[in-house]
Amino acid sequence: MNLKYNAEIKAAAEKFEELLRGQLERVERINASRETVDYAALDKITIGICGGDGIGPVITSATASVLRFLLADDIASGRIIIKNIDGLTIENRAAQNKAIPDDVMEELYKCDVILKGPTTTPRAGDEWPNIESANVAMRKNLDLFANVRPVRVPDKGIDWTFFRENTEGSYAVGSQGMHVTDDLAIDFCVTTTEGTERIARLAFEYAKNNGKNRVSIITKANVIKTTDGKFLRICEEMAKEYPEIHTDEWFIDIMTAKLVDEKRRTDFRVFILPNLYGDILTDEAAEFQGGVGTAGSANIGKRYAMFEAIHGSAPRMMKEGRGIYADPCSMLRALALLLSHIGYQTPADKLDRALDICMFEEKKLTVTGRAGGATCEEFTEYVKGKLI
Ligand code: IPM
Ligand code: MG
Repeated sequence: MNLKYNAEIKAAAEKFEELLRGQLERVERINASRETVDYAALDKITIGICGGDGIGPVITSATASVLRFLLADDIASGRIIIKNIDGLTIENRAAQNKAIPDDVMEELYKCDVILKGPTTTPRAGDEWPNIESANVAMRKNLDLFANVRPVRVPDKGIDWTFFRENTEGSYAVGSQGMHVTDDLAIDFCVTTTEGTERIARLAFEYAKNNGKNRVSIITKANVIKTTDGKFLRICEEMAKEYPEIHTDEWFIDIMTAKLVDEKRRTDFRVFILPNLYGDILTDEAAEFQGGVGTAGSANIGKRYAMFEAIHGSAPRMMKEGRGIYADPCSMLRALALLLSHIGYQTPADKLDRALDICMFEEKKLTVTGRAGGATCEEFTEYVKGKLI
């Protein structure tokens, strides 16, 4: 046996052991938390608002003004409590060297649902310490296992809802990979039975309850055999409980191609995907709707839920002084998802309708991200004017 790398392998094996313990504890936590909160039964619902950084505060405060407008009565009566939570900026996260500073996390735990602006995610080699993404940390800490991303383009026949698994896959220990030696780096991908069952259940139930006749399971199980293989097998097993829904199975590469196939793509309705494929495919999908700036996303757990734009904080826009031209549509769509999630379906529908009018039908103002287009504030006022 080659003893050359003994010390390196031992060190890596010890880290791996720690990582396995963490994941097994997580499985136990999933099993212990099966109760789903019933918002209708709550006397009070606390909505936390985090502006984030970059264009985050611009589009979040515009969206919060729409929230205040739509729920004015229930805010006045005290059923809805709005809680502003600062401190999720990249500067503060970097200064504290934490994905989410402890005091911010404490505040988040006191909320029921959260509206979150984009937050800058450092990557190896940039100006910030390489802390974990605030999005990923929030999804993990609040156990927000489902990332639900609707994409609709009515005049192209596109009506898709993506159910992206949100706490596992390549993200579960994405910040705990290892440099075993200077030449060998390794990351890990995680699939659990419990984690897969809960995302698959949510997707199939959504399809059933919303008259969506097709569910597509997306993996790369021909190559990533163990974790994607398990994900696929569990989803296929569950599909048998829904014989009225047509379920099919695709590899991520060909599905990426099918989304641009105008003849086939209109057949798809609901997608179930592991975390990383969901991340990538939903950006592609959003592009058909007008870009990531138009797409909102719901991060759903049993106890908490968080709603956000699907895009990042656009630091380049801020650097170039174009922050005021940021597109609020993604956050406004996220707000509609939030309202629907906590049982305010009528205002949610009103908001989606107003956005459809402003974005697709009347189009009196257009946000381009640059001078010459509408500002975030102007567009938000335009949408408010259509909230009838
Ligand atoms: C998203 C984003 C995040 C992700 C980033 C910011 C960590 O791209 O919500 O899709 O990869 O999940
Ligand atoms: Mg993404």
